[in-house]
Amino acid sequence: SSTAPVQLVLFGAAGDLAHRKLIPALYDLYREGHLPDHVQIIGADRKEMDDEGFREFACGAADTLGRFYPKTADAESWGSFAKRLAYVQGDVTDGETFDRLAEKLDAFAPKGSKPERVFYLSVAPFLVEPIGAGLANARLLRDAKRSRIVVEKPFGWDLASARDLDKMLLKTADESQIYRIDHYLGKETVQNILAFRFANALFEPVWDRRYIDHVQITVAETVGVEHRGGYYEQAGALRDMVQNHLLQLLCLVAMEPPVSFNADEVRNKKVEVLRAVRPITPEAVSDVAVRGQYGAGYVEGTAVPTYRTEPNVDPHSTTETYAALKLEVDNWRWHGVPFYLRTGKRMPRRVSEISIQFRPVPHRAFPAGADEAWRPNRLVLRIQPDEGIVLKFQAKRPGPNMLLHPVAMRFEYDEAYGEASPDAYETLLLDAIKGDATLFMRADQVEAAWKLVQPVLDAWGGTIPPEFPNYTSGTWGPAAAERLLAQDGRSWIEPLAP
Ligand code: BG6
Repeated sequence: SSTAPVQLVLFGAAGDLAHRKLIPALYDLYREGHLPDHVQIIGADRKEMDDEGFREFACGAADTLGRFYPKTADAESWGSFAKRLAYVQGDVTDGETFDRLAEKLDAFAPKGSKPERVFYLSVAPFLVEPIGAGLANARLLRDAKRSRIVVEKPFGWDLASARDLDKMLLKTADESQIYRIDHYLGKETVQNILAFRFANALFEPVWDRRYIDHVQITVAETVGVEHRGGYYEQAGALRDMVQNHLLQLLCLVAMEPPVSFNADEVRNKKVEVLRAVRPITPEAVSDVAVRGQYGAGYVEGTAVPTYRTEPNVDPHSTTETYAALKLEVDNWRWHGVPFYLRTGKRMPRRVSEISIQFRPVPHRAFPAGADEAWRPNRLVLRIQPDEGIVLKFQAKRPGPNMLLHPVAMRFEYDEAYGEASPDAYETLLLDAIKGDATLFMRADQVEAAWKLVQPVLDAWGGTIPPEFPNYTSGTWGPAAAERLLAQDGRSWIEPLAP
């Protein structure tokens, strides 16, 4: 761990993400000795609280640790962590708030030392601009090597607004100081995609069009829109999940090997994938994109309501809660290998997995009837839950006859590593503190991703959607999603059972 003093300012400290994820993650990092002894965490929000009040609020957050981690908060480490918490109450559109923040920051560092400063913006998008300006005016971003801004999604609502946001951010800070979070990149299983591909000699030689038939990326959730109707109505599945999380997974699967694990080397290779994706023309949208909205149904045995009756949702809403895309990556490696992406709320199971479907063997020499249950090889990267990697292959069923049958080789995190993996936010917070931007989004990546989905957004925004709701909660989505693959002679593969 670094020994320079660290100050982390958490804007939106009284909010939901801070309470659910960020404070517990910081506490865990502290307890595990990843943060320097000289660390200060300053919450900033409009809510009336003093330092002590914030400590109590944070303690409530740490209490939830038991839900997320097997370990629970202990009094001793909590006491010492709490001493490092402070709070600044104020309105971020008021410059005076930043003067008080600057005072509090200055009072902290030992004479002669230069603290690393991370400003974490866990706030509504419209507050990003005033906070950026406030920090710049209070000269808190001047030291480009030691001060960073962490921004949460959404990074804009479309290509144009994403560009505006970047322009605005770049007025207040250098690109190297801006850390855009896509929390999927902090997940252990997602980082492991690179380890799996580039730390092993076995898979990379077959990782291309010669051996791979197609790739399926599924991110299925059982939850509905929950209490986020206000946000989600404006977003929909394409903006909320595909533009960021699913496209990042695609990049990791499809990228070329990086020269080194330097942040820009990795990000260069990733953005090249997005640039290679064949642009979707307006006429093609209906052939390659499918949207859906959930109706009432049963998820894991519980009755759930239709999307249109959820809180803060328009009873005639045309917002999609399911999206599927077929993408082609136009480069030597992937020519002719489609990538099918799908994500939805109120699916039968919570499961995210990447399924690499290999081509069939060129010649099946087995006697007639031997290979009725025959399936091409399939490699499944299980992102969550039941994290792991499964390779499906054919084996001879024991017995007198040559009967083939698919079996599996499995790597399971649980079995291999026992304890639960750190939460994605722990990884990302620590990287932001250390100044490692590898797992964060660069402006050009965000823009390339928007550019890719923009024609679909335009088409969907400009036409009347299919009759919504068009899938029953607790199913794998609308019938049109099946047709998307059926037109290519393929079908969605049921995600692996737990
Ligand atoms: C968020 C989306 O980015 O990711 C949510 O806004 C979604 O709608 C969430 O539920 C899923 O994250 P995870 O880590 O639970 O898969």
